[in-house]
Amino acid sequence: MRFLCSGCYALFLALLIFIGQSSPSAAQNAPEKAALCASCHGQDGVPLDPTIPVIWGQNEGYLYIQLRDFARGARKNDQMAAVVQQLSKEDMQALAAYFSKQPWPNLGQKAPPSDIVKKAEAIANSAQCPQCHLGGYLGAGVQPRLAGQSQTYLRKTMTDFRSGARANNDWMTALLKTYSDADIAALAAYLAGF
Ligand code: HEC
Ligand code: HEC
Repeated sequence: MRFLCSGCYALFLALLIFIGQSSPSAAQNAPEKAALCASCHGQDGVPLDPTIPVIWGQNEGYLYIQLRDFARGARKNDQMAAVVQQLSKEDMQALAAYFSKQPWPNLGQKAPPSDIVKKAEAIANSAQCPQCHLGGYLGAGVQPRLAGQSQTYLRKTMTDFRSGARANNDWMTALLKTYSDADIAALAAYLAGF
């Protein structure tokens, strides 16, 4: 490359990068597709409604499995069913990678009163929630992050697991069947404020 001036070399590199990008792939289209998601999941990662989960900064493997399960009908939700109809497997993988790299938003949910914390901790320790959802409830891979998730959503989705309305994980359903509404409410408040 000695025959090129430094400025020309930079131009050459820029051209190579440009050529590399000019064949569109699912990964390159992800930010464009992600704009579709912002109308519900939020422009800045804060969902527009408390029944809608945070997906910014959620774990990649978990995000992909949920999109796949909505597409297969294993997890049922009318809004998400309509969304995933427009996505290929490659789009779902690219969107999972894209959203997992965004910063988790702070929903500003405070820790609940100490009696609720005590109740939730007792349940969590006996059910070994942190064994799967890991330290700080940050999860990893296909285990979802629970810390700081929307309280209303957490309560709804745990109730849905319990009733079988969310039927894409038999293990979570079996576990939550053993809990009362008050147990689930305490866990949701605890995890939201974690
Ligand atoms: C019309 C509103 C709407 C749009 C648009 C939308 N979502 Fe959702 N999404 C929801 C709702 C509501 C839920 C919760 C469903 C439930 O309660 O089971 C959800 C759930 C999810 C979940 C499961 C998260 C978890 O913690 O389990 C993922 C992943 C997801 N959406 C990704 C996306 C992506 C990616 C897009 C854009 C391609 C998108 N959504 C567009 C409303 C929407
Ligand atoms: C054996 C491992 C394991 C244990 C123990 C466990 N979980 Fe889970 N949990 C999972 C997996 C895996 C998923 C993802 C299921 C899926 O793909 O839909 C999940 C999903 C969830 C979700 C849904 C998150 C979302 O974004 O929709 C909540 C809430 C949850 N778990 C709460 C708990 C609580 C509370 C406990 C303890 C009482 C617990 N889990 C114990 C493995 C576990």
